[in-house]
Amino acid sequence: MENPKNLIIVIFGASGDLASRKLIPAIFSLNSQKLLPLKFAVIGIGRTKITTEEFRKKMGDAIVTYSEEKSIEIDTVDTFIKDLFYLSMDDYSPVGFEGLKAFLKVTDDDYGIGGNYIFYMATPPSMYEAIAVNLEKAGLTGQSEGFRRIIIEKPFGYDLDSGRMLNRKLHELISEEQIFRIDHYLGKETVQNLLVTRFANGMFEPLWNRNYIHRIEITSAESIGVEERGGYYDSSGALRDMVQNHLLQMVGLTAMEPPSSLDANAIRNEILKVFQSLQPISEEDVPLQVIRGQYTESLIRGVAVAGYRNEKGVTANSRTETYVAIKFFINNWRWGGVPFYIRTGKRLPTRVTEIVIHFKQTPHHLFQRESGKLPANQLIIRIQPDEGILLKFDMKEPGAGFNVKNVNMDFHYSDLADIRVPSAYERLLHDVMLGDSTLFSRDDEVETAWKFLQPVQQAWKNNPDIKVFGYPAGTWGPEHANDLIEGEGLTWRYPCKNLADDELYCEL
Ligand code: BG6
Repeated sequence: MENPKNLIIVIFGASGDLASRKLIPAIFSLNSQKLLPLKFAVIGIGRTKITTEEFRKKMGDAIVTYSEEKSIEIDTVDTFIKDLFYLSMDDYSPVGFEGLKAFLKVTDDDYGIGGNYIFYMATPPSMYEAIAVNLEKAGLTGQSEGFRRIIIEKPFGYDLDSGRMLNRKLHELISEEQIFRIDHYLGKETVQNLLVTRFANGMFEPLWNRNYIHRIEITSAESIGVEERGGYYDSSGALRDMVQNHLLQMVGLTAMEPPSSLDANAIRNEILKVFQSLQPISEEDVPLQVIRGQYTESLIRGVAVAGYRNEKGVTANSRTETYVAIKFFINNWRWGGVPFYIRTGKRLPTRVTEIVIHFKQTPHHLFQRESGKLPANQLIIRIQPDEGILLKFDMKEPGAGFNVKNVNMDFHYSDLADIRVPSAYERLLHDVMLGDSTLFSRDDEVETAWKFLQPVQQAWKNNPDIKVFGYPAGTWGPEHANDLIEGEGLTWRYPCKNLADDELYCEL
């Protein structure tokens, strides 16, 4: 694997959760795998007034707590944190950026970096523009001495207009090639494996279309509530937090045409074409195609759990959705007429993300089925947990007659003994260091995704009669979401913790 050029990573918002839980442990893991350049330094920027020594201590503790490495040696952590620095900045003002510039110069000279800097915006989204403007003003975005790249966390905008505005503003300051819009789902091994499953195996492609597929279902369920993020979440909701980015990117990878190469633009062009082909949902059809819900207080395995409206930072009469399910179509030759169902929610029974390909039934039912279930094959691509792939098909039950039973054939990543699945942030940070933007959302993808969701946002805003259904925390969301699914007796799959199980009652 190629090693990146010497570089400095500047993290804005370094005293926040993302830096401690994800970014620093990911950089540490890259270091352990010898995937970092020979010379590198990390400069954390935050409002909290702490010294570099305190920052190093805090990050060292964070690595021990959150690292996904199998074992950690304290000596290695101690050596690693010596390359971390901290600079406090009161208000991200131009003066602060002059200070950053001077600090970068000294660090660059000390280490012999050569001017390659990555700026990671791990701040609230309202700061993105100001940071970019001030970086440019301080002369830190020009690439005459080395590369300058900016990583931006989601949400990228709030709706179509604000997403467009942010793109426009950034393009005035830097080029698209310098911008890396992070969607951490694209960094997940299993999401990338979708490309391999589809395009490295000859057997799936002939079936991957409207002739053989009845419907596609994508679920991203979480068992946690909004935890400490009520303030952010209440102004965001599941549509902006999960659908606009993570779920639609999974739709893109599931539905795209084979790209001409693995080039970043070749892949992103195909995802964009899927987004452009999404059949618009009219505002009038929103209640028929989109179901939103909000968790209410409940007992989960005997423990009382607060309802969303009682969470910290959430307004008492909030109508923010913590659950959303959407039915839609993709208007192209491959997918015309095949319904796609996507859903996501907090405080659902378990944490699971998966893509279910439901194949069509056989045209003629020759055999008797157990419990009268209709015959249909399913391919389940499990993104997390118990990462793997499951194929459900019918087999003859041994014995007299021709009784048919649905059985499983499964592959679990955990069977690949001794291979640690790297975290999404490891993969994505390493890609930015190498300048590979394949797994990052391009400007047009982000805008097209917002455009698709705009009527939903508009309908919810303009029509207070569109219901927000309550669902008891720990259940599979509003029952009405089942009404979205076309076909008698059909429901969503109720996935369990283990890939092979899918009953209403199972291990969670
Ligand atoms: C984030 C959302 O992008 O993804 C969170 O902001 C959500 O609300 C998280 O919990 C889910 O990520 P993962 O990797 O745990 O599925």
